[in-house]
Parts: sequence; structure tokens; C-alpha cells
Amino acid sequence: MSGLFISLEGIEGSGKSTQAAFLADYFRAKGFSVVRTAEPGGTRISLGIRELLLSTDNTGMTPLTELLLYNAARVQHIREVIAPALDRGDVVITDRFSDSTTAYQGYGRGIDLKLIDSLDLIATGRLRPHLTILLDVAVAIGLKRNRAANKTDRLELEEVSFHERVRKGFLSIAAEEPGRIRIVDCSGDLEAVSRRVYAAADAFLCTLRA
Ligand code: TMP
Repeated sequence: MSGLFISLEGIEGSGKSTQAAFLADYFRAKGFSVVRTAEPGGTRISLGIRELLLSTDNTGMTPLTELLLYNAARVQHIREVIAPALDRGDVVITDRFSDSTTAYQGYGRGIDLKLIDSLDLIATGRLRPHLTILLDVAVAIGLKRNRAANKTDRLELEEVSFHERVRKGFLSIAAEEPGRIRIVDCSGDLEAVSRRVYAAADAFLCTLRA
């Protein structure tokens, strides 16, 4: 695989989708061929699984079912979209990847992190983004942004303490892998945040040239 794999991560309302779109344009302007995608999703089958996961009809879903479904959606996403794009040498920018599973199902739901890691090995074969940008924001601000945008799916409706655990989870993952994960404060306006995201991308590109 010769492409570049980049993920954006963060809690609800951290602005990942907007920043992913800006970042895709940024890389295109530098002459890269870019594939922009998102989890759970990216393929017809993965989008079907997304519907199951996020429907507020499915409040009875067990944490283990949830974990397996996120992984199932990821297997299909890698096979159909991510791996072929990386093989072509493209830049793949995904809104969420494995770190979301560790943060939400591990830190948020309390599933054993070792189990999460074993499943991740099966699902991804340890495919890891070369760069992960963690958009960090206070839970109160993120949830307020999402409610203003009328986003209320099954996970967004979880209590505030769940989202606090998820945020802490992301920060713990980032502390463990400072080489891969760069934390960007996304509490300010869109332009200020995008400048920080571009700076993180530039710093990463410099490490490739070094
Ligand atoms: P989105 O709102 O960013 O599209 O993500 C969908 C929801 O799924 C969001 O609440 C985060 C959650 N999620 C997990 O709980 N585990 C995962 O592995 C992924 C990819 C997303």
C-alpha cells in the first residue's frame, strides 16, 4: 500500500466532517488524489449496518452487538474502499476509524480494551492511519453544536457522562501514540480550527520528506 491514510477523530460535534472536507481540498490543491470517506459507512453494506447502529429504534442493542457491528462495517469499508485507494497511491481521509471503537465501545461502554484490540486485529489486520487528527472539544460545546444541527441518533442521545468518558478515552489513546495522533483544539471558529488542522497535516508531510 503506497497511499496515505489519515483519520479524523473526536466526540460528537467536534466538527470532523467539515474539517475532513477542508482537508481533502487542501490535499487536492497540493496535487494529491484524495478519497474522502466516513465510518460507519463508505459502502452500501456498511451504510446498512450504520442504520442499524444509529436508529433510535434499537435502544435494546447490547454493547457487544454494537462492537461487532462497528467492526463488521469496518471490514467491508477497508475491503471495498480504503485498501484499493491506498493501493492506487491515493490519500484516504476518513471521518472516524478504529480509535472511535476504542473510545466509544471501550472507554464509553466499558468493554474490555483487550477484547476490542483482539477484534481490531481480526477486522483491520492492524491497518492504522499514518496520521490521526483528534479534534478535541468540551462535551458541553460539542453536544450543543450537534443539537443545534438537529443531530440526535442513538449514540448522541447517551448521557453526558458517556460522552465525557469517550472524550477522556480519545485523549488517553492520543497520549499513548503521540507520533500518530495530533490533538487539535476545535473550540474556536471554523477557520481557526482549519488552520490548525492544515498545520498538523503539513507537519506530518514534513516527517515524510525528512
Ligand atoms: P458520526 O456521527 O461521526 O457519523 O458517527 C456515528 C456514531 O457512531 C457516533 O456517535 C460515533 C459512533 N461510533 C462508535 O461508537 N464506534 C465506532 O467505531 C465508530 C466508527 C463510530
